[in-house]
Amino acid sequence: MKRGLLLCVALPSIVAASDFFEMKIRPTLAKNCFACHTNSKMGGLDLSSRASVLAGGKSGPAIKPGAPSESLLLKAIRHDDPHLKMPPSGGKLPDTVIADFETWIQDGAKWSDAKAPVTAAKLWSLQPVAAPKAKSIDEILKAGNQPKADKRTLLRRLSYDLTGLPPTPAEMDAFLADKSPDAYTKAVDRLLASPHYGERWSRHWLDVARYSDDKLDSERDAPRPNAKFYRDWVTKAFNDDLPYDTFVKAHVAADAMKDRPDLLPALGFYGLSPEFQDDRVDVTTRGFMGFTVACAQCHDHKFDPIPTKDFYALQGVFNNTELHEYPLAEKAVVDEYDRKKKDLEAREKDLKDFENVQAGALANIFTHQTARFLEAARGKGPADGLDKDVLERWKKYLARTNREHKYLDDSTNAEEFQKLLLATDVEKKDVDDKNHITLGSAPNREDLSQANLLSLPRDKFFLWRDFYHNNGVYTIVAAKLPPYLTGEFKAHHEYLSKRVDDAKKALPKQYPFLYGIADKAEKDRKVMKIHIRGNPQNLGEEAPPVFLTALGGGKLTTGSGRLELAEKIASRDNPLTARVMVNRIWLEHFGEGIVKTPSNFGNLGERPSNPELLDYLAWRFMENGWSIKKLHREILLSQAYQAVHPDQRRRLDAEAVRDSLLFVAGTLDPKVGGDAEPITEKNHRRTMYGSVSRRRLDPMLSLFDFPNPNQTSEQRITTDVPLQRLFLLNSPIVMQACEDLAKRIENEKDRVTAAYKLLFQREPTAKEKQLANTFLTSANGTWPEYLQVLYSSDEFLYLN
Ligand code: HEC
Ligand code: HEC
Repeated sequence: MKRGLLLCVALPSIVAASDFFEMKIRPTLAKNCFACHTNSKMGGLDLSSRASVLAGGKSGPAIKPGAPSESLLLKAIRHDDPHLKMPPSGGKLPDTVIADFETWIQDGAKWSDAKAPVTAAKLWSLQPVAAPKAKSIDEILKAGNQPKADKRTLLRRLSYDLTGLPPTPAEMDAFLADKSPDAYTKAVDRLLASPHYGERWSRHWLDVARYSDDKLDSERDAPRPNAKFYRDWVTKAFNDDLPYDTFVKAHVAADAMKDRPDLLPALGFYGLSPEFQDDRVDVTTRGFMGFTVACAQCHDHKFDPIPTKDFYALQGVFNNTELHEYPLAEKAVVDEYDRKKKDLEAREKDLKDFENVQAGALANIFTHQTARFLEAARGKGPADGLDKDVLERWKKYLARTNREHKYLDDSTNAEEFQKLLLATDVEKKDVDDKNHITLGSAPNREDLSQANLLSLPRDKFFLWRDFYHNNGVYTIVAAKLPPYLTGEFKAHHEYLSKRVDDAKKALPKQYPFLYGIADKAEKDRKVMKIHIRGNPQNLGEEAPPVFLTALGGGKLTTGSGRLELAEKIASRDNPLTARVMVNRIWLEHFGEGIVKTPSNFGNLGERPSNPELLDYLAWRFMENGWSIKKLHREILLSQAYQAVHPDQRRRLDAEAVRDSLLFVAGTLDPKVGGDAEPITEKNHRRTMYGSVSRRRLDPMLSLFDFPNPNQTSEQRITTDVPLQRLFLLNSPIVMQACEDLAKRIENEKDRVTAAYKLLFQREPTAKEKQLANTFLTSANGTWPEYLQVLYSSDEFLYLN
């Protein structure tokens, strides 16, 4: 892949295309289509290979890669054509699955052909890291006499690479003036020592770590203000050059590294994770080792030496681990808070119970008035004595055309309907009571999912729901309850409400804490059993905690096994960990990895373009005590890095676009770390401190290709879409920055030059000065407008 504009592929997500096919498309085809579209070729169509899908059935090609709207298969699963609805029975596929197919076809309908699984002995990435013969990166790349980039290009490239910010005019002037042979080396060291270095590089890691400031909740926002402790810890780790093996171990098992309490925040890696079944195994194996162990969840890995048992052996480690909050306060403070919180919850429950009983009694009264409500709602009976609100709801309900039960129409007898409703309410209570008993006797969650729970017949359930559930015709919500209460009931309700208010006032702000994990208590730890074909109801043999067999296995026996797991991941004998990390670092410096699939070093991934270079770097990395800064230094000082990169123009990423805007305008707050805040024109902090949401990603971030924080991301893709230009023309963030920059240069003698030096670190040409003049005088343009044009230029947005 080339940098910048050339990289316009619309990958649906950061999952490599082949993984996308294997995770999303093939299982669906297998489950829903293969029964009729492989050997039996119904409609003439064989869906078992890309070639046969392209060849199509009796109506011609089933898909047109890149053109979902012209693809018959998509029409068929969307049920667009009444004569071709696939699958023919059992209902339409879920919308999300259909969307996956659309994305897949849009992206060229990549198909990975099943190859025979390769044994560990053959997979390149599992071979030991070879001791280098070469003495330098340049020797390997034969880069010794490549032409060097000019100094201005070089310092811009270096500043952005290491800090995500442009050089200041003063830094550029000093660098250009420094004719000493180590001028460049000094710039590298200065920037590596900048606190902004840690911000820039932690953000790269946070993509892999799927960091976000909230919990994924489809119904409501669920912020996690303490998530920042993990994010800030990662920044500090980079700034302090924490050895990478320690960094890795801390992520997996900091709680077991008793002599290093400073590492504890690293557990946020899991503590903040989305709660998908396979997330932890996935992020651990892909993130640290570029190994797609999650592919072995339903079947043995089809391409890499990873049996299903390996997946469950690791899953078992996390299964014996639970979420845990580590308080950052004195025990007394924690205890006090917990006690008051419990007290509040108990009082809230008292209030809620009382309200439920009262609302239930009201619903019961209304139920006994059902016949009168129905006739009044039909306009056939008197409304006197009936509750006005409920009558209104009744009228609306009667007018509804989409009721999901069959009990109510124009001819329904009102008295009969009242009887039915009374009986249904009784029946529902009876079912609930019985279920309650069943649930009460189920010893744990696994038994629960198999427990035989009762339910109402479908129509009755909908009838019951329409009257008694949320927003039901007879439901009185807590806020609407008080006017119905009188006398003793009213007084008691006020008393209970006041108790809640008092407890709320007495509850202090919660103490800060770290999101993390901890081992479950020994009695709750279990050996995991294989889920046959990924089905938790269908259990196979036991899979006790063991490290990946392809990497030599080894039992994980202490506690959940996490510390041993951590040590095996971060061991020098494990060739994947160092290779994967040096490749990630190379990728960020050069715009593409030596392995172009940074989180897949298996057979479905790409092979290294230069295996000698990859191993040289991995070896040096380990030799240098896993120092990331030393690795940067070696890469940055190479001729290869300093050379002209003719075809590697790179667009700034989301963070660098916004940070540079504010930086140049002089309004960027340089504070490192702290609370996340929404990204608005009022926020002057670096973009990495903008709230990242799993539920609703900030539109500016997603416009500039920020990855989906619900899963580990291997690399950013760069799209170039017109909306990005529109953002630069219309966003209040950009407008504000232009105003601020205009103010910043207001008193300069030569404002155009000042703007060029801030934005591009160079003087304007005579022609550019003339253009500026024309715009500002003849065309009556304002300064902020002029600056906005400069901001939106390729020279500002792209690096060479
Ligand atoms: C129960 C059997 C069955 C299943 C399952 C099934 N199909 Fe079909 N499919 C058929 C039959 C039969 C036809 C031919 C229909 C016709 O010609 O009217 C057909 C036709 C098609 C066609 C049109 C072929 C052509 O060239 O005319 C497409 C596309 C298609 N199916 C896709 C799918 C997909 C995708 C799935 C899975 C989501 C699927 N089918 C599942 C039975 C099935
Ligand atoms: C949620 C379960 C699930 C996951 C996760 C999964 N698969 Fe599959 N896969 C299936 C099912 C079901 C089939 C069809 C039946 C079979 O071959 O076992 C299948 C079939 C395949 C096949 C076809 C095999 C053949 O013999 O024709 C390949 C290849 C494959 N999967 C690869 C992968 C890869 C690679 C991954 C990870 C990126 C993956 N699968 C993840 C469920 C899954």
